[in-house]
Amino acid sequence: MRKLTYFIAASVDGFIGRPDGEAGFFTEYVDEEFFEFLKSEFPETMPTHGRQPLGIDDLENQQFDTIVQGRASYDLALEAGVTSPYAHMRQYVASRTMEKSPDPAVEIISEDLRGRVRALKEEGGLGVYLCGGSVLAGELLDEIDELIVKTYPLVLGSGMPMFASGFGLERFALESVRTFGNGALVSRYSRER
Ligand SMILES: NC(=O)c1ccc[n+]([C@@H]2O[C@H](COP(=O)([O-])OP(=O)(O)OC[C@H]3O[C@@H](n4cnc5c(N)ncnc54)[C@H](OP(=O)(O)O)[C@@H]3O)[C@@H](O)[C@H]2O)c1
Repeated sequence: MRKLTYFIAASVDGFIGRPDGEAGFFTEYVDEEFFEFLKSEFPETMPTHGRQPLGIDDLENQQFDTIVQGRASYDLALEAGVTSPYAHMRQYVASRTMEKSPDPAVEIISEDLRGRVRALKEEGGLGVYLCGGSVLAGELLDEIDELIVKTYPLVLGSGMPMFASGFGLERFALESVRTFGNGALVSRYSRER
C-alpha cells in the first residue's frame, strides 16, 4: 500500500499560514540551497506554473504521482487563473460545493473522501501528496501515514493550524531531519500504528 503524506510548510509554532491561511511569506526561505533540495527530492510539490518559468517543468516526480487538496487551497490557483496547478500529477480536489471541475485534469471528490483516499492508497505507484490545507488535513488525519514538515524559523503567535481537528494524541516516529543554512528544517515522521 502506498502512503498518504502530508507535506507542509510551517512556522516553529506549528502554523501553516496567517489566520486566513495566506502563506506566501514562507517562500523567503526558498533560497538557493533549499531550492536545490526541493528540485532534487520533491520537484513535483512545486506547481506547474511555478516550474515553467524556471525551466524545470520536465523534472521527474520523485515521491508523489497523485495530489489531494482542499477546495480552499485549490481556489488560490483558480484566483491566479490556473485550473490545473499540478499538471504533472493526478489531481483531486475535495469539495462538496463545486458542481463541476473547471479542468478535465482535476477530479472533484464530493463524497466519501476517506474511502476515495483509501482506494488511492491501495493503488500502486508513487505516494499520495496531501497538500492541505488545515481543514482537509484534519478530515484525513486518520489516513495520514507520513508527515514531512518544512519548518521555517518563524514564530507567528497565531495562525492557521496544521490540522483543523479536535484534541488527540496521534503518535508519529521521527525518521529523519535535514537542516539548512537559513535555519529551515525538513522533518520526516512515519505514523506509529
Ligand atoms: N503552508 C503550507 O504549506 C500550505 C499548504 C496548503 C495550503 N495552505 C493554506 O491553507 C489555506 C486553505 O486551508 P483551509 O483549511 O482553509 O481549506 P482547505 O483544507 O484547503 O479546503 C477546505 C475545503 O475542502 C473541502 N472539504 C473538506 N473536507 C471535505 C470532505 N470530507 N468532503 C468533501 N470536501 C471536503 C470543503 O470544500 P467546500 O467548501 O467546497 O465543500 C472545505 O471547505 C490556504 O490559504 C493556503 O494558503 C498552506
